[in-house]
Amino acid sequence: MRRTIDWADGAVVIIDQTALPGEYRLLELTTVTELVDAVQRLAVRGAPALGAAGALGVALSLHRNGDVHRDADRIAHARPTAVNLAWGVERALEKLDQGKEAVLAEARALLDEDEQLNETASRHAAEIVLAECPRRPLRLLTHCNAGHLATVGWGSALGVVWHLHARGLVEEVLVDETRPLLQGARLTAWELAQANVPYRVQPDSAAAAAMARGMVDCVLVGADRIAANGDVANKIGTYGLAIAAKHHGIPFVVVAPSSTVDSKLADGTGVVIEERDARELTEATPKDARVFNPAFDVTPFDLITAVVTEHGTFRGAARSPGHRR
Ligand code: MRU
Repeated sequence: MRRTIDWADGAVVIIDQTALPGEYRLLELTTVTELVDAVQRLAVRGAPALGAAGALGVALSLHRNGDVHRDADRIAHARPTAVNLAWGVERALEKLDQGKEAVLAEARALLDEDEQLNETASRHAAEIVLAECPRRPLRLLTHCNAGHLATVGWGSALGVVWHLHARGLVEEVLVDETRPLLQGARLTAWELAQANVPYRVQPDSAAAAAMARGMVDCVLVGADRIAANGDVANKIGTYGLAIAAKHHGIPFVVVAPSSTVDSKLADGTGVVIEERDARELTEATPKDARVFNPAFDVTPFDLITAVVTEHGTFRGAARSPGHRR
């Protein structure tokens, strides 16, 4: 599969994630305004891919002779929760005094690294899953999309699936549809289908019942921001999954590149949670219904079995002694 986001002929080129799975199309972003809009509409999304968008956005501003500091600020604040976006912007800005070619080279280096780091992190995480889960083949559960599309390439949580599937060790992936924007039903299901991995989509509300019925060996998710103490901000619903997994003695593994770690943040209470438009929820409601629509939640480290980056594994308290299975 081509990269989710790349630079070509003076433009940022993305796979348009609002069109999948119905249509696979590319979007050429030729201005910073178009890039910011694509980030806010989730045409490009997922924390590591947003890091790439941040760096490429700075290169694009310079390419267009824009006001780079103003543009950098707009890009960095296009969405608040994934730390990677501002990190990508900062990394590109560090090369500003060396000129626009150096900024573009740095952005391109970040893209190359992202694919590599996700592959490495997910390979480490696959070993953790195999050590934690005795059953073969494995039944895995994932939430949102932490695949190729959420990164420059390869994926984080789904990257683990690619490693395990290549070894013939995956029986099935249960895919939370991930209300309200359906990143699981639309994007994760699409990626698994492309890779011929057996999967079933389920409503988010079925996840605890699947665990109770013994249908899940391990929960695998990505992350949007990881605090210094290991608390993890990820797509809304992740926290509930972690509580259910702990109740059922099921390992809960978080996989992300180290660009998702915010070491300046002591714990998850400081994460800014994006609140999205009420219209994402009001299709079936009475007119003028008020809504609560946070895009992310925070899972405390003590509900997590392991947070895995390319640097290795950080063990949480939620190991799984006395598995019921
Ligand atoms: O709102 P999104 O789609 O950008 O959110 C992405 C997520 O929360 C994913 O779950 C993912 O784990 C982080 S990116 C690998």
